[in-house]
Amino acid sequence: MKRAKITIVGAGNVGSSCALWAAAKELGDIVLIDIPEFADKTAGKALDLAECAPIERFDSKIIGTADYAHARDSDVVVITAGIPRKPGMSRDDLVQTNVQIVKAVAEQVARVAPNSVLIVVSNPLDAMVYTAWKVSGFPTHRVVGQAGCLDIARYRTFIAMELNCSVEDITALLLGGHGDDMVPLPRYTSVSGIPVTQLIPPARLNEIIERAKQGGGEIVKLMGTSAYVAPASGTIQMAEAIIKDKRRILPCAAFCQKEYGVGGYFVGVPCILGKGGVEKVVEVELDAAERKLLDTSVSHVKELVAVAEKFLKG
Ligand code: NAI
Ligand code: 2OP
Repeated sequence: MKRAKITIVGAGNVGSSCALWAAAKELGDIVLIDIPEFADKTAGKALDLAECAPIERFDSKIIGTADYAHARDSDVVVITAGIPRKPGMSRDDLVQTNVQIVKAVAEQVARVAPNSVLIVVSNPLDAMVYTAWKVSGFPTHRVVGQAGCLDIARYRTFIAMELNCSVEDITALLLGGHGDDMVPLPRYTSVSGIPVTQLIPPARLNEIIERAKQGGGEIVKLMGTSAYVAPASGTIQMAEAIIKDKRRILPCAAFCQKEYGVGGYFVGVPCILGKGGVEKVVEVELDAAERKLLDTSVSHVKELVAVAEKFLKG
C-alpha cells in the first residue's frame, strides 16, 4: 500500500511537534519545510526525529528542507508558518505579518500538491484559513483550520481535573472562532453520558469555561511564547482522521455558507473529517443564548477576515 505523505510548512515549535506526533503515530512519510535561511536547521530537526525511529519503531521517512519539490503530491499539508504571539499580544496582532507568510506558502503548496488537504494552524487562525483558501484556489472542503481540537482538549482537561476523572470519558462541543470569544457549550458536554451540568455547579463550570477560552494566553504568560505540544497534537488528530479516512467528528474551522447562518467564512464547527477533507459540517440546534455567543464570535471572525483581505490586496 502506498504510504501517505504529510508535509508540514513551518518547522518551528508547532511544526516540529506536529512532525513528532505524526511520526509517533506512523501516519506516513513526513516533509518539514522552512525558509532557506533555516534549511540546515530544518534538515537537522528532521534527522534528529528520524533517529528516534529504531527506538519508537516507525518506518516513516523524514526530510527537512527549504525545497517545495519534496512536498510534491502530499496527501495532507499542514501550515504552521508564521510568527507566534508574545506576552501582551493577541492572536489578532499577528495578522499583517502572517497574511504575507501564509500567502507565500499557499502559493507554493498549490503548485506542488494541488490535490492535498490543507490544514492551517497559523494565527489568527480563522483569517489565515481564509487566506490559504483564497490563495490556493482549493475547493472549500480541502481547506480546514485547527483550533477546536486544541480548545476542546483544554476544556476537557480542565473538566477532568475538576472531577478527578479520566479525560477519556469527557466529550464536549465548542463552536466559533479561535479567539477569547470561542463558544464551549456546556449543554453539549458530558462525562460518560452524564450531562456535565449535573456534576459541576454553574458558577464553577463558568470558571472552567473562561479558563479554556483564555487557555492560549495562560500558556503565553507562563512560557513567554505560545503553546505548541497540544496544538500539534490537535493538528495531527485531524491529519490522522483525513489520512485514515476515519470520518471522525471533530471541531474544526470549516467553510460555512448556509451552515449556522455564517455566510461564507471559516469558523469552528463540528465536522466529519475523512479522506476528502471536510466531508460534512454537522449542525446542532442552539438556544437563543448560545446563538448570541456564536454570532458574536463569528462577527469577530468577519472583522479579522476583512483586515486580512486588505493586506492580501496589498
Ligand atoms: P515558531 O516561530 O516556533 O515557528 C514558525 C516557523 O515558521 C519558523 O520556523 C519560521 O522560520 C517559519 N516560517 C516563517 N515564514 C515562513 C515561510 N514563508 N515559509 C516557511 N516557513 C516560514 O512559531 P510556532 O510557535 O511554531 O507558531 C507558529 C504559528 O502557529 C503562529 O502563528 C502561532 O500563533 C500559531 N499557533 C496556532 C495555534 C492554533 O491552535 N491554531 C496554536 C499554537 C500556535
Ligand atoms: C493557542 O491557543 C496561541 O493559538 C494559540 O495556544
